[in-house]
Amino acid sequence: FISEGIPLIIHLRCILVTVYRVMVKENLRVLLLLCIFELKLSFSPATQVEDTVNLVKRIEKTGIAAIAVHGRKKEERPQHPVHCDVIKAISEAVSIPVIANGGSHDFIKEYTDIETFQKATAASSVMIARAAMWNPSIFRKEGPFPLKEVMQDYIKYAVRYDNHYTNTKYCLCQMLREQLETAQGKKLHAAQSTQEICEAFEMSEFYEETTAVFEAKKTSLETKQQDEDDQMEDPDVIKMAVRFDKREYPPQITPKMYLLEWCRKEKHPQPVYETVQRPLDRLFCSVVTVADQKYRSALWDKSKKLAEQAAAIVCLRTLGVPEGKLCEGENHLINKRKREDQECLNNRDHGKDLAEPSHKKANFAEESSDMNVPKLQR
Ligand SMILES: Cc1cc2nc3c(=O)[nH]c(=O)nc-3n(C[C@H](O)[C@H](O)[C@H](O)COP(=O)(O)O)c2cc1C
Repeated sequence: FISEGIPLIIHLRCILVTVYRVMVKENLRVLLLLCIFELKLSFSPATQVEDTVNLVKRIEKTGIAAIAVHGRKKEERPQHPVHCDVIKAISEAVSIPVIANGGSHDFIKEYTDIETFQKATAASSVMIARAAMWNPSIFRKEGPFPLKEVMQDYIKYAVRYDNHYTNTKYCLCQMLREQLETAQGKKLHAAQSTQEICEAFEMSEFYEETTAVFEAKKTSLETKQQDEDDQMEDPDVIKMAVRFDKREYPPQITPKMYLLEWCRKEKHPQPVYETVQRPLDRLFCSVVTVADQKYRSALWDKSKKLAEQAAAIVCLRTLGVPEGKLCEGENHLINKRKREDQECLNNRDHGKDLAEPSHKKANFAEESSDMNVPKLQR
């Protein structure tokens, strides 16, 4: 539970954990279902513990696998003492595992305290939230690392993994806690970037060095990218900087359809699309071959589909053929479709043919998946 970061639960709020086994294609998989619900019940003070225990017993009977209990009453706040006796009473009354929670403030200062809390509650395990935020090395058996060291290590991870500064700041504030009023705490509070956080912890040198390495890496990748783009520079390919924008076309009408229609009319073989994907930004570029001439857009697209449409546009524009845009006015493909739909309806009325209109058959099918697109070699 701790490692998965599943939220813990307050006294009289219960997590029900049920394990189901399901067979999926001969592999036995285990699904862990968490049913979380809040029980906002008011027991009379005299029978509170008894009522709580009875409630948990009833919940146990529903078949749950475990229960987490936060030893506080509904009206109590996190800084109030945890009621180990109530958790203990529950632990002793049920046979499913009880996970004790709520001990960060009073109990858990180091690893051995986790065991103390477990013993005090007779629980089978312990869930920890705040103590782990205050010093994540709480789980170190030999004792926690000094906070200063932990914070510095944390900042290093945050810089290396480009963590958002607001999140870094929040986590560091949790660690600093009482020291937030110190000069360092105030600097942290005022920080508006990772760089400023590093300054507050006298780690500017680390920040500069690490970001310089990243910048160099970025430049080198961009240069590599340029080289790869240059490799794609084939003087025989006709290029234009165009993108396909669906909004500029009537529904279900695309440049690829127009190009296919044109090829059929001109008795050319149907267009052949070859698409590649750039590993760096995962963008796609498609080259379409029509009548032995290759065409491509100079711009890279987010999907294979878009890249193919863009290549078709380049081809159609070069040939001076309409591409089906709304602004082109009369759309012969739409008219053709309407005629086909009408024919189909007429046939249906006469009970002749229950087939779909021709454009819904393979004619205009645009099978285009991003899967199996070759990646550019580095
Ligand atoms: C940052 C943070 C987020 C939490 N989010 C939830 C939550 O989403 N749902 C919930 O039931 N409890 C939540 N809690 C409460 C804890 O799960 C836990 O019950 C409480 O902190 C008591 O445990 P502790 O003494 O180990 O901190 C959160 C606590 C913290 C510190």
